[in-house]
Amino acid sequence: MRIGHGYDVHRFVEGRPLFLGGVQIPFEMGLLGHSDADVLLHAICDALLGAAALGDIGKHFPDTDNKYKGIDSKLLLKNVSEKINLLGFKVVNIDATVIAQKPKISPFIDEMRKTVAEILKTDINNVNIKGTTEEGLGFTGELKGISCHCVCLIE
Ligand code: CDP
Ligand code: ZN
Repeated sequence: MRIGHGYDVHRFVEGRPLFLGGVQIPFEMGLLGHSDADVLLHAICDALLGAAALGDIGKHFPDTDNKYKGIDSKLLLKNVSEKINLLGFKVVNIDATVIAQKPKISPFIDEMRKTVAEILKTDINNVNIKGTTEEGLGFTGELKGISCHCVCLIE
């Protein structure tokens, strides 16, 4: 059994769709990034890669590579999942915290959990996702961006 941790941040910009946990969420801003900037899926990828001592998302999918421009982060998570499976690992559980002043993510959490669980070929009960604000403080509080933490166990 091995533990992993992932952390990611993306900046809010106008004129891009917002993706979190593979789900498009209606909001007046989206996140900036080379890929679709799904900060939650990126933190999950980094937690899984960390648990398997495989480095991080930037090592496997460099943002200097045009192949990954605008890519759906569900494909990145699928690729990470295959990499850890190839080493003989499967997911025990993951727990992620999305830090966002806005939008409220609770209405979308079950769809995100289902999306992530399907990609990781695990039961939805092995995937927990939650949201919190930072009470108006810091860059998330000022609506400059969203951050996300994730921990996972693999065996
Ligand atoms: O301290 P606590 O996290 O309980 O309070 P909060 O940051 O004001 O968030 C209250 C609740 O709103 C959280 O427990 C989440 O269930 C939800 N929430 C959410 O759905 N989406 C967010 N972006 C932030 C919070
Ligand atoms: Zn990212």
